[in-house]
Parts: sequence; C-alpha cells; structure tokens
Amino acid sequence: MKITVVGAGAVGATCADNIARKELADELVLLDIKEGIAEGKTLDMFQTASLLGFDTKLVGSTNDYSKTANSDVVVITSGLPRKPGMTREELIGVNAGIVKSVVENILKFSKNPIIVIISNPMDTMTYLAKSVAGLDKHRIIGMGGTLDSARFKCYLAKAMDVSINDIHGTVIGGHGDTTMIPLKRLATYNGVPVSQFLSAETLDKVAADTMVGGATLTGLLGTSAWYAPGAAGAALVEAIVRDEKKIMACCVSLDGEYGQSDICLGVPVVLGKNGWEKIVDYQLTDDEQAAFNKSADAVRNMNSVLSTLSL
Ligand code: 2OP
Repeated sequence: MKITVVGAGAVGATCADNIARKELADELVLLDIKEGIAEGKTLDMFQTASLLGFDTKLVGSTNDYSKTANSDVVVITSGLPRKPGMTREELIGVNAGIVKSVVENILKFSKNPIIVIISNPMDTMTYLAKSVAGLDKHRIIGMGGTLDSARFKCYLAKAMDVSINDIHGTVIGGHGDTTMIPLKRLATYNGVPVSQFLSAETLDKVAADTMVGGATLTGLLGTSAWYAPGAAGAALVEAIVRDEKKIMACCVSLDGEYGQSDICLGVPVVLGKNGWEKIVDYQLTDDEQAAFNKSADAVRNMNSVLSTLSL
C-alpha cells in the first residue's frame, strides 16, 4: 500500500503523521512545493518511529511527483488556509488552480488512485477534482463531513459531559459555516436520542457551535485548524485501506441521491477498498431535506465560479 499526501503544511503533515502512526502504508510520500519542507517533516516524523513503534517508509519530496508513482490513495491538502474572518469560499480563486494542477500531476504517475480532498472550499474542490481526474466517481472523496461530524460529537460530549466514544452524530451538506447540517434528530448517546438528555436550546447551541467549529479555531489560532482536519483525513484513509465498510459523512458525487445531481456534497457513505462504495439513505425529514437542498444551492453557486476562473 502506497499513500501520498500532497501539501506538507499543518493539515497535510498532521494527516501524514496520523497515517504513519497507524501504519496504513508500506510507503508514505509527503510532497510540498516549498523546498525542503516535506523532506524535513518526514525526517522529523521518522525520528519518532522508534519512540512510537511504527515502521512505515517515509519519503519527502519537493514537487517531484515521480516519487508519488503508483500511489493507491492520495490525499490533497494543498492551497491556502483560512485567515481569521475569512470564509472557506473566499479561497476558491487561488486554490482551484492549485488543486487542478496537483490532480493532473498525480495522474501522470498514478493511474487509478483514490483521491481524498481536504483543500477548501472542499465541496467545490472535490467537484473540480472529479471533473479533472475523470476517474470512477467512487474514487473521489471530500473529507468535510468526517471533520464536521467529529466536531459535532465533540460539542455534544462537552455539553453532556459524557464519553465522546458513546456519542454518535452526523453532519451532512456542505463544508461551510452556513451550509453544513448537523443532524440533531439522529444524534445518540449510545443509541438513545441526545434530545432525551439536552434541552432543545442546548442542542441548537451545539449545532450552531459545530457549524462555526472551523471559524472558531481560525479565530483562536490565527490560521485554520490542523489536528482534527488531519485526523479526519487519516480516519477516512484508514477506512479505505483497511476496507472497514464504516459509514462516514463524506463529500461525494450525487446522481439523484438525496434529491441532488451534478454536485459533490456531504452524505453518509460506506467506505471500503474501492473508495466510497455506497450512499446510505438516512431518510431525511422534510425540514432536513429542505436544508440539504438549500446547502446544495449554495455549493452549486460556488461551483459556478469555477467556469469564471482561467484554470
Ligand atoms: C476546517 O474546517 C480546514 O476546513 C478545515 O478546519
């Protein structure tokens, strides 16, 4: 198993570090455009191997895509991160060109990889990657919902003061502050609806905190978060390479599922060795479906910007 992570910034390096620690690959390549960064970070990571007990070959590369040859899974984190006060959507002008060229370069050396997109605006970058790559749609997966669901579970566990491992929760829709949809109705504390433990008001606050989860961290840190985004990327890769058949919320190409087509948007999918293997129908209520449709409209609007850029 060979895995490549493109972009050795905080998110990419954290994702690579998690992939290495979990021993998901025989060989893990970290590539960045900045001279020496990927080589330095992979060397630093390998110096933790004897301490942490993993044994994965780590390769750093300054923009030499031949080192990524024959990758089974490629995670793309390249592009600018958010600054405080910025939306993910404001990054489209710069990041679209970067993501397009990364996908093209990857495909020169790997014929049929599974591509995981983390770069923002994630839903539009996934849609772009799908059209540039021309691969089977099951092999293009955007990470947003996995991260947003992890944040939803974090805020639920904090509000309830219980083990986060007993909390289940899913966020669907777009990976934007106003487009994501924490599914409050389906969140449970070990199978029991969380509404039995939290007031409607508290649950609304949990959902609101989840939606601005990334922006809150950008405000605190001065740049985008990295621990949770990196870990979410690695969890998604783990479900693929270990063929786990886990259900995770991911941004995938919809062909009529959840009432939408010609769009990549967050829905629950089963992940396995072939990428996203099927979409699970959570049978949304009318209100949830209306929110999903609204989210799709906003993402479609953002996707339409792609045709105005000279890519
Ligand atoms: C976030 O929400 C980076 O989009 C990512 O933190």
